[in-house]
Amino acid sequence: MISENSNVKRAVVLNGSPRRGNSVTMNVTRAFVDGLASAVPLETEYIDVIDLKITPCRGCLSCWSRTEGRCVIDNDDMNGIKSKIEQADYVIESFPLYFFGMPGIMKVFTDRLLSMMSTYEGQRHNIEDGQSLHGIRNKKPDRKLVVVSSCAQTITDTVFDSLLMQYDCICGKGNYTAILCPQLMTMVNSSEKLRLDRYLKKFQKAGAKFAADGKLDEETLKNLSMPPFSDSTYKTLLGIFWDKMKKGELHV
Ligand SMILES: Cc1cc2nc3c(=O)[nH]c(=O)nc-3n(C[C@H](O)[C@H](O)[C@H](O)COP(=O)(O)O)c2cc1C
Repeated sequence: MISENSNVKRAVVLNGSPRRGNSVTMNVTRAFVDGLASAVPLETEYIDVIDLKITPCRGCLSCWSRTEGRCVIDNDDMNGIKSKIEQADYVIESFPLYFFGMPGIMKVFTDRLLSMMSTYEGQRHNIEDGQSLHGIRNKKPDRKLVVVSSCAQTITDTVFDSLLMQYDCICGKGNYTAILCPQLMTMVNSSEKLRLDRYLKKFQKAGAKFAADGKLDEETLKNLSMPPFSDSTYKTLLGIFWDKMKKGELHV
């Protein structure tokens, strides 16, 4: 139930991991949202994208021509989700990195948001100036998009480049905040609780900072994306991880 109290901010969290509640990325996302909620009155709705009925975009371009932004597919969950996004102050997309991009379910979901983009009429806005390449229809300047993504690799450079370029083109550089977490599966599954709590605390702090400033500075983002383990420790931990997985002693 969405509050009518205008002081209360609205957050929609879209969990794009097919692993639903087991998503390790969601550990970070929840910590961030807890931080947000500690700094502003917040109503949060968590949605597992995998459980939504989302028909793939048909490519008919009706939303860009005949229907003024309305999708002609009206027998699935997308219209409802779109209106939640339109009413939200914070849209938080949380998903694992799959083949250096977003998981398939998130791509199907994103394609269906074409109706939120301006009709392409040859424009090429400058993404370096924070403009969406096409432009965004009915843009709500105060709405913030946060993308939280985790991966198995130890670095975030290169590995996340194609994903970030995609978001740069869609939203414009600087018009969204990307929180990138390497080595996360191992971190969540192999560390002592204290270490994990300490790790998650920094995302909670970042959430509170984001609520206050509406953005995160470069240094904070860099700190959030630091790999929790050194390369050699990570290799050892990965060896243990795969060994336990093979023996069926660990279920993620
Ligand atoms: C199909 C698939 C593709 C993946 N591709 C990548 C990848 O390109 N780079 C990477 O570092 N990790 C990759 N991973 C690992 C996941 O991104 C990583 O385990 C993630 O933290 C899982 O998050 P989740 O628990 O929220 O789903 C992939 C995993 C799967 C299942």
